[in-house]
Amino acid sequence: MGQRTNEAMCPIQGVPLPARIVKYWTKVEQFQASKEDLLIATYPKAGTTWTQEVVDLILNDGDVEKCKRAPTQVRMPLLEMTTADDPSAGITMLEAMVPPRVIKTHLPIQLVPHSFWEAGCKVIYVARNPKDSVVSYYHFDRMNLSQPEPGPWKQYLEKFMTGQLVWGSWYDHVKEYWRKRHDKKILYIFFEDMKEDPAREVSDIAQFLGRQLSKSIIDHIVQMTTFSVMRENPMANYSTVPDTKFDRTVSEFMRKGEVGDWKNHFSAEEDAAFDEHYHRMMADCPLPIRFTI
Ligand code: A3P
Repeated sequence: MGQRTNEAMCPIQGVPLPARIVKYWTKVEQFQASKEDLLIATYPKAGTTWTQEVVDLILNDGDVEKCKRAPTQVRMPLLEMTTADDPSAGITMLEAMVPPRVIKTHLPIQLVPHSFWEAGCKVIYVARNPKDSVVSYYHFDRMNLSQPEPGPWKQYLEKFMTGQLVWGSWYDHVKEYWRKRHDKKILYIFFEDMKEDPAREVSDIAQFLGRQLSKSIIDHIVQMTTFSVMRENPMANYSTVPDTKFDRTVSEFMRKGEVGDWKNHFSAEEDAAFDEHYHRMMADCPLPIRFTI
């Protein structure tokens, strides 16, 4: 089993990011997006991988075999990906690809490289309710040995609420993309809506991407991107990441994929404190977040 890397975090404009990428930040800032590139932006654990698979299938007219050409993280690299061997590994991978590229990021909107906005790139933003996000992030940090040690749940929840986890504040993240969604080409979608009516969401994404797909292809994409099908797909379930990096004895990447799992983790006291804090933090931004469906 691998060892946790315990890499230091370092803030960029107040947002905690792995120190390694911070050192190479000008490379991220100067990244050249092309106008055909698509950015999929999320706060961690919002359903990024799910959305990536939906997008790849839409762009390939539902052809599952084409979408099995490589693992998610190779087909649609994380812009700010950093490894010990290559501190700006995401940029290296993206620069070796020919546009149109599908690019993943967890960066808050103010840290997204300017070239995306100058080029007028389309962006799909996925938001997930913060209670399920923090539960999912907690289990992910327990198993992902390149993330900081999560520590006890109670402290982890406090760190989430105060924006101290990697990629910063969930509140700022979801609010700032929401506020800018009409100024830029942002399709803003919700994990809970994808669970509730995946065909409607797949069809909205296809329309946003300018793709005309038949109802049968849309239904096929929905079937190929259910939690149970993706969990068995080695090109979409992160099973290609070695055990030295993901300790699967602790938790799975494809863990539960549900809305409302937070009820199994929050005590009544934590829930009440969270609700009070949430209403204060979100008072200036009426985002239609749902905690249950
Ligand atoms: P859980 O930990 O709650 O199970 P991301 O891709 O942004 O890291 O998000 C990961 C979360 O999305 C995990 O949530 C994972 O199980 C869930 N997920 C991945 N694929 C999914 C799918 N097809 N349907 C529903 N949830 C999915």
